[in-house]
Amino acid sequence: MAKAAKKTRPRVVRSVKALREALAEWRERKAVIALVPTMGALHAGHISLVALAKKSAKKVVVSIFVNPTQFGPHEDFSRYPRPIEADLDKLSEAGADLVFMPDAKEIYPDGFATMLKPTGPASVGLDDKFRPGHFDGVATVVAKLFTSVMPDIAIFGDKDYQQLQVIKTMARDLHLPVKVIGAPIVREKDGLALSSRNVYLSPTERAAAPVLHQVLKESAKAIAAGEDPEAVLSRGRAKIMSAGFKLDYLEARDAATLAKLGEQPRKPKVRLLVAAKIGKTRLIDNFAV
Ligand code: PAJ
Repeated sequence: MAKAAKKTRPRVVRSVKALREALAEWRERKAVIALVPTMGALHAGHISLVALAKKSAKKVVVSIFVNPTQFGPHEDFSRYPRPIEADLDKLSEAGADLVFMPDAKEIYPDGFATMLKPTGPASVGLDDKFRPGHFDGVATVVAKLFTSVMPDIAIFGDKDYQQLQVIKTMARDLHLPVKVIGAPIVREKDGLALSSRNVYLSPTERAAAPVLHQVLKESAKAIAAGEDPEAVLSRGRAKIMSAGFKLDYLEARDAATLAKLGEQPRKPKVRLLVAAKIGKTRLIDNFAV
């Protein structure tokens, strides 16, 4: 028997002009429009964002753009996976309505001279410390996506938790009329958070990788039970390093501002955040206490 008929591919546009023309008709009909920004190499985590977007909006736009300004000079920009055909198949299956896939010249034409410089949650000594300039690139490209698409809502994963707080703050500070929504982290059965970068892991590295989630989960439980966070986290740090990781950070922070604990007048909601490298691959994860 033939498989169920493949859904038709969503329309792909590559310029802001074509994007705006494609959106004009939906906007005229007052359709609620959702945007899901991605860098492609789509997995079930990305697709969960598209599914949430479909529930919350009439039309779903997905952008695929490997944004050069958010990669450091020694990071993986050139080797970042770009499986375009497979991505478009997944987006057809997921029911995306429009795919915006610009090239770098469209977003950063010659003479481009305006970068955003977020602070607040973008300068708290987490990923900002280990990836200088990263959030300038993220905030700039996301602001450009927001002003190009002008979505009613935009969906981001909790997976990149600091990024989510930076984008919420940026949208608020620039009065961008978009509701920024965070979506839960999709994980493998063993707890490893799905990531486009997991394809870089060797079998041994892949076997070690779930320790990040294990430590986050155990630490959240211990802290919630009243153990001293610093003692819990130093145990966690040791466990991650003995699994073969080079640790950038394992921290407990105010879930909204990402400030260090103890700097707040009242007891805040707490989020645990981790970043660590195994071999050449840097993984991040986080967990609510
Ligand atoms: P990318 O890494 O492709 O991620 C796109 C979106 O998918 C982000 O909002 C990210 O948090 C979410 N995501 C990734 N893995 C996930 C998982 N396991 N579960 C749930 N959501 C997950 O993040 C970026 O691209 C870029 O920085 C971008 C925002 C597109 C700007 O260039």
